[in-house]
Amino acid sequence: MDNNFIEVINLKKHFNIGDNTILRAVDDVSFSIKKGETFGLVGESGSGKTTVGRTIMGLYTPTSGKVLLNGVDIHSLKGKGKKEFRRKVQMIFQDPYGSLDPRMTVEDIIGEGIDIFNIYKGAKRKERIYELLELVGLNREHAARFPHEFSGGQRQRIGIARALAIEPEFIVCDEPISALDVSIQAQVINLLIKLQKELQLTYLFIAHDLSMVKHISDRVGVMYLGKLVEVAKAEDLYRNPIHSYTKSLLSAIPLPDPKLEKEKSRIKFEKDYTGYFDKKGEADISRPSQLVEVEKDHFVVLE
Ligand SMILES: Nc1ncnc2c1ncn2[C@@H]1O[C@H](COP(=O)(O)OP(=O)(O)OP(=O)(O)O)[C@@H](O)[C@H]1O
Ligand SMILES: [Mg+2]
Repeated sequence: MDNNFIEVINLKKHFNIGDNTILRAVDDVSFSIKKGETFGLVGESGSGKTTVGRTIMGLYTPTSGKVLLNGVDIHSLKGKGKKEFRRKVQMIFQDPYGSLDPRMTVEDIIGEGIDIFNIYKGAKRKERIYELLELVGLNREHAARFPHEFSGGQRQRIGIARALAIEPEFIVCDEPISALDVSIQAQVINLLIKLQKELQLTYLFIAHDLSMVKHISDRVGVMYLGKLVEVAKAEDLYRNPIHSYTKSLLSAIPLPDPKLEKEKSRIKFEKDYTGYFDKKGEADISRPSQLVEVEKDHFVVLE
């Protein structure tokens, strides 16, 4: 039996961008995530990763298709069910500067969710905030400070503590390390991995490039202009990329050895925007989105 925690089924999210044009930001995307698993979602800017993340969080209503959490359609939830769902899911953002309110203290930033869901009050609330700060490698003295007093890596730790405050089960990590120095990136990834083990968290981990995703993801999905074109276990994707877009993304990862890096050839990929824009009055041609299993647990859209 499948024990899928999250199931994304034929999800479409189209935006009307004016001028009689529909942008198919997410177009017929299906994948699932098991409890405790990390599913990496990679692709270039504009491929629809954040839109997938926001739709799973319930922040966007799908144009069509469904998102199930433990078998329940999250977009059909109302009242108490919706409130329970909101406590189960959280998001960590790319920009550790813009995502923290500069006028709030760290204590209030982390405490906001605790207050909204009425989890702790008074001394217990304070204790919980201290505990969360320590959990993410900060300390209680940081509680009274403001975001501008911290480095980028520390701010991202505050963002993680804020996400953990309501004890979620599922976290969408939307490029949480892209804005950080390379030396700090691994620290934040290792923290996320440690927290996942301790708290049995399930992650959707969104990233531009494949280099860091490899370390954190169990399985990886590659998005290209609104479509998921390849899904495989992380090691299989690196060992045997099949879609030419995946190959080009992999060839773009810089090699640590400068000599090898210089000699390496980048695989070029000509983007085909067919089906990304749907202009009224023009022929409606869509690119295929049918994933075919080419080796065990390795799926690809055939070209
Ligand atoms: N609210 C919106 N209204 C109109 N268009 C949108 C909206 N949100 C996203 N888009 C468009 O949908 C496409 C996918 O955007 P999305 O943010 O999901 O991409 P992404 O893969 O996360 O890119 P990035 O790597 O830059 O974050 C883009 O062309 C974007 O301009
Ligand atoms: Mg994005």
